[in-house]
Amino acid sequence: MTAHDADWWRDAVVYQVYIRSFADGNGDGTGDIAGLRGRLDHLARLGVDAIWINPWYPSPLADGGYDVADYRAINPMFGDTAQAEALITEAHERGIRVVLDIVPNHHSDDHAWFRAALAAGPGSPERERYVFRDGRGADGSEPPNNWISMFGGSAWERVPDGQWYLHLFDVRQPDVNWEHPEVRADFEETLRFWFDRGIDGFRVDVANSMVKQPGLPDIEPGVNDVQDGTHPYLDRDGVHEIFRSWRAIGDAYDPPRVFVAEAWVPDPERLARYLRPDELQTAFSFNFLTAAWLADDLRSNIDDAIAENTAVGAPATWVLSNHDVCRHPSRLSRKPEAGRGWNLDDVLDLPSDPELGLRRARAATLLMLALPGTAYVYQGEEFGLPEAEDIPVDRLDDPTWTLSGHTLRGRDGCRVPLPWAAGEPAFGFSGGADAEPWLPQPEVFARHAADVQEADPDSVLRLYTDALALRRAHPALGGGTLTWRDSPEGTLAFDRTGDDGESGFTALVNVSSAPVSLPEDAEVMLTSGPLTPRDEVPADTAVWLRS
Ligand code: GLC
Repeated sequence: MTAHDADWWRDAVVYQVYIRSFADGNGDGTGDIAGLRGRLDHLARLGVDAIWINPWYPSPLADGGYDVADYRAINPMFGDTAQAEALITEAHERGIRVVLDIVPNHHSDDHAWFRAALAAGPGSPERERYVFRDGRGADGSEPPNNWISMFGGSAWERVPDGQWYLHLFDVRQPDVNWEHPEVRADFEETLRFWFDRGIDGFRVDVANSMVKQPGLPDIEPGVNDVQDGTHPYLDRDGVHEIFRSWRAIGDAYDPPRVFVAEAWVPDPERLARYLRPDELQTAFSFNFLTAAWLADDLRSNIDDAIAENTAVGAPATWVLSNHDVCRHPSRLSRKPEAGRGWNLDDVLDLPSDPELGLRRARAATLLMLALPGTAYVYQGEEFGLPEAEDIPVDRLDDPTWTLSGHTLRGRDGCRVPLPWAAGEPAFGFSGGADAEPWLPQPEVFARHAADVQEADPDSVLRLYTDALALRRAHPALGGGTLTWRDSPEGTLAFDRTGDDGESGFTALVNVSSAPVSLPEDAEVMLTSGPLTPRDEVPADTAVWLRS
């Protein structure tokens, strides 16, 4: 990696490692740093530019590690700081950059500060670092306001002395008070701690919820319940000043460290505000992930993301799956339905056609990787993994299950340990040891195991490897611009021009239900599935063309 690469994040392909489920190095049924180090060559062969590792810090894992008890240490379940440093070095040796996850909206209730806050009592300086309030009603037994936790139920929890604390997520995730200078200083120290250890950037967890409106007013439908700057805790303008200071910290390093925001802000213009030149470099364009599998919907979301990001000089950041949403082959296995969400619980009752889902998933991948900007690949999607839809309820771990009163299964179905070898116990997740994986793997994972995929020239893994190699080699791909072509109804076709003005690349994605002809004189470089005997592009298929 050279200094010239300081802009690497503008067109990178970043692989998301959900460390608990990636690879188990010590044979205890849970993924860890040793397992990840042992599989770095898989990532190098796949051809990714960077990895983003979900939180690996000490945590009671009430929310899969997004409940952090100590931001500057490693959960012993995953390894230790020396192993983390070795991983960073070994990844860099392979040309793979390392991005960590920072969780600035809340701590774990196991964090030393929160324990101190509970012990110190109402009115203490220790409580000032969180959002403690007295309750409403004569005896203070009503929550301070009507905010709802993202996982269900009130966003307030009462402690034995009668006060309440705010938790926008799980009850074990108390929100911190970003008005407090010690909170700011402490997160800045965490950034430096990991930057000093050589990491290349951070993914910023719920980057749009840290700042709360003074007075913590109720949410009133039609008044302040949308993210237009009026919502009392989502996308408040005050967050930008925090990110300006973070950017300055990252920019002081050589090469500069980078950020990617997880901010589910639906309006692309407001999302792009996080990407102004002195703020964060990138933010996931979730509207692409949530778009229906329909040409118009895909196209308009692609256009909006590119236009708004270009206006602030930032690349778009595409993603199809992550640890919070139903894996895309399973989402796409259902007919496109307006108004349906992207979680398993949103689509579980719809009839599913797994073959169709996988065909569409392959096409969606070639669409994503042809778009200008940066792209994220979630572990296991390179094996075509479906969502595990029938995990026994007594094995569910996501707090959504409990907090929804056992009505929503939550996100465990996309977090199941990866299959590496079809014939081994736990499909090789624990390197041959027969430890029970922390979440059960469905039988169908055998077909998707890495060794099966490696041996099959038509596998999803081969498609990802070929696409990433072509993307890296082709001067029209990565950064640059996109120009739509006229194409038949229900299809997407666009030409690409790279950063250096090189063109000669066209993508055609058939989202309709009938085959379409290839453009005249087009030379096929890669297809997501077989063409018809008449060399047409079948439904739910994408092609990359030399033009
Ligand atoms: C983000 C994470 C999610 C977590 C939540 C609370 O959305 O991606 O997994 O539950 O933040 O930290």
